[in-house]
Amino acid sequence: MDAALERMLNLLLESERAGVAVLDALAAEVKHPDLKLLLLDAREEESRNAGALERLVREGGGTPSAATGPFAGKVAAVGTMRGRLTLLIRGQEWVARKIEETLALAPESGPIHDYLQKMANRHRHEIEWVRAELIRLMDTIG
Ligand SMILES: [Fe+2]
Repeated sequence: MDAALERMLNLLLESERAGVAVLDALAAEVKHPDLKLLLLDAREEESRNAGALERLVREGGGTPSAATGPFAGKVAAVGTMRGRLTLLIRGQEWVARKIEETLALAPESGPIHDYLQKMANRHRHEIEWVRAELIRLMDTIG
């Protein structure tokens, strides 16, 4: 597999692993049931993504990274739940941009392209959803 593509897929893999840790921590803290469900659902998706990316790198002849990205520590360092959720959205936007960059390096068709496309759509959806929930719950999450 192309070295630049492998590097980007591994960056996404590390980021999705970090996402699982972040969402685990946030879901444990959040009291509002709708928001908790949203976060747990997103956590499952991140976990699925990490597994799929690992497989795609391996099947493409590359070596999946064993590392986890630094995002969880950054989120934990923020003092308020609203601040942590806002940073979560920013993190998802960052990943969405990285997915587009990775798509540009991937073959125009095939399993890597298809999975990244799905991930891109899902991330866009999630960003809008968390943003809408934040507005809706602004008074209750502190
Ligand atoms: Fe993600």
